[in-house]
Amino acid sequence: MDPVTHQIVVDGAVAGDAERSVDCTEDQTLLDAFLRNGVYLPNSCNQGTCGTCKVRLSTGSVDTPDIPDTVLGADDRAAGYVLACQSRPRSAARIVVDTASDSVPAHRLRDVDGTVTALRHVAEDTVAMHLELDEPLEFSAGQYVEVEIPGTGHLRQYSMANTPSENSTLEFHIRRVPGGAATDKWIFAELAVNHRVRVRGPWGDFVHDDTTDAPLVLVAGGTGLAPLKAIARQALMINPDHEIHVYHGVRHQGDLYDLDFWAELTRNHPHVRFTPCLSREEWDGRRGYVGDALLEDFASLRGYVGYLCGPPAMVDATVKVCKRRRMAGRNINRERYSAAATTPESTELTA
Ligand code: FAD
Ligand code: FES
Repeated sequence: MDPVTHQIVVDGAVAGDAERSVDCTEDQTLLDAFLRNGVYLPNSCNQGTCGTCKVRLSTGSVDTPDIPDTVLGADDRAAGYVLACQSRPRSAARIVVDTASDSVPAHRLRDVDGTVTALRHVAEDTVAMHLELDEPLEFSAGQYVEVEIPGTGHLRQYSMANTPSENSTLEFHIRRVPGGAATDKWIFAELAVNHRVRVRGPWGDFVHDDTTDAPLVLVAGGTGLAPLKAIARQALMINPDHEIHVYHGVRHQGDLYDLDFWAELTRNHPHVRFTPCLSREEWDGRRGYVGDALLEDFASLRGYVGYLCGPPAMVDATVKVCKRRRMAGRNINRERYSAAATTPESTELTA
């Protein structure tokens, strides 16, 4: 039997002339329904851990899991806010979006299959995977897709390291998590060239703004370098003289990867600087955390635009450094590689 469908209308800060009413099935999230119809709603993690997708339910009923206070505070819950990425309709409904985000293009969310064309071990516990898609997928530099773990229905997020102009062959950088369902038990154990993989995307608000020439500070921890490679290449395609400072933080020298790529980029673009930092090993390069390197290198970050990506603790620490060096809050873009959340029990909420 086909799932029941409800009409959902969005009011408030939706960009442009977007269609404000979509059909959403009872097993689909509100966010998924709007993005599939080309209506952008603010979103980042798509797993109920960041709060970016909060919307107010003004009429109707949704099924929604218990959300921790750290993500959606008690006041917000009392005012009828829900997470669009976690809520499924139980009736026709109206939602209100408070925050405009017209800087993110509304690429349609899609499921696309692809074939693995390359899988290279590029560093200790890190692979670069290339996926040739059956159909091109539109996205913006910095966004990610969800990859389906075969036979489980579970999804994991991985950022594209390639530019949007290369929309048929996606490049990913993936780090093994011991015991991890996607990495340890599938990608590093079984996945091989010619295997078929399904992706769903694009997702996220961590995107390069093609309209600005402001100098960029790109700070990565581990495989957080992936979307920053896409952003740096995209910025340089638009302006080869763009000023870009890239910091890559890892623990050991064996965790560094793509050094040849960055060496060539810095050779070809005199205003690009690449600084690898090791936090746990002495070597003849920078030693310490990426945030400390930023503090040492910049007396002020006023006028700079920052993109920070990687483990949540590293991103949060670097946000503080950027603020301390006077980077404007609106210029601090962040992507936290948070671990997949376990889905709590759902309850029905009626406005
Ligand atoms: P799981 O089965 O989900 O976890 C196994 C156990 O390890 C759990 O107990 C879990 O809590 C813990 N765990 C999970 N991740 C970590 C971690 N990083 N450190 C310590 N413990 C952990 N990863 C990439 O390598 N490259 C990317 O480009 C990338 N992009 C992402 C983009 C977004 C927006 C987000 C939210 C995450 C991204 N990640 C990326 C992380 C990725 O989606 C998975 O969470 C990660 O690969 C682990 O999945 P898994 O199934 O192997 O582990
Ligand atoms: Fe919904 Fe992060 S909580 S996008």
